[in-house]
Amino acid sequence: MAQGTDDTGAAAPETRSPAVLVLHGPNLNMLGVREPGIYGHATLASIDAALATLAGALGLEIECRQSNHEGQLVDWIQSAPPRFAAVLINPAAYTHTSVALRDAIAATGLPTVEVHLSNIHAREAFRHHSHSAAVCVGQIAGFGPESYLLGLRALASRLT
Ligand code: DQA
Repeated sequence: MAQGTDDTGAAAPETRSPAVLVLHGPNLNMLGVREPGIYGHATLASIDAALATLAGALGLEIECRQSNHEGQLVDWIQSAPPRFAAVLINPAAYTHTSVALRDAIAATGLPTVEVHLSNIHAREAFRHHSHSAAVCVGQIAGFGPESYLLGLRALASRLT
């Protein structure tokens, strides 16, 4: 059967994989050297590579971006649709401070999963509150790099 047609020869609807935008917030570019006792030794590049492998297995496209700047993250969330169908985000320290990120996630309405390497609920009190979690599908925290992979699986089950 020719690609792009069904078995009657009629044009089939385009079957593009849903795309997920992966966003890493401030200081996550320093993973591997940053407080390894808390965040481990995995680098951001190794996390992105593991996500890309899993995305392929789940039939998803992904694009991974990192920024230390709140406004840049807001711009990326705002412009995610229509190209991206969902967002996987580790807002890092902005989790606990940023109403702007929370509002951007709410504004797009895209299914979003918040992830953290560390268990923020078992750390300092100022890390216990997340501004963004309430506008996300859910939050996964405490599993190291596996938090991202669990988050991607959660989004895949929403999208496919
Ligand atoms: C983090 C937890 C945040 O409290 C912290 O500010 C980070 C990383 C995590 O992945 O465990 O930068 O989001």
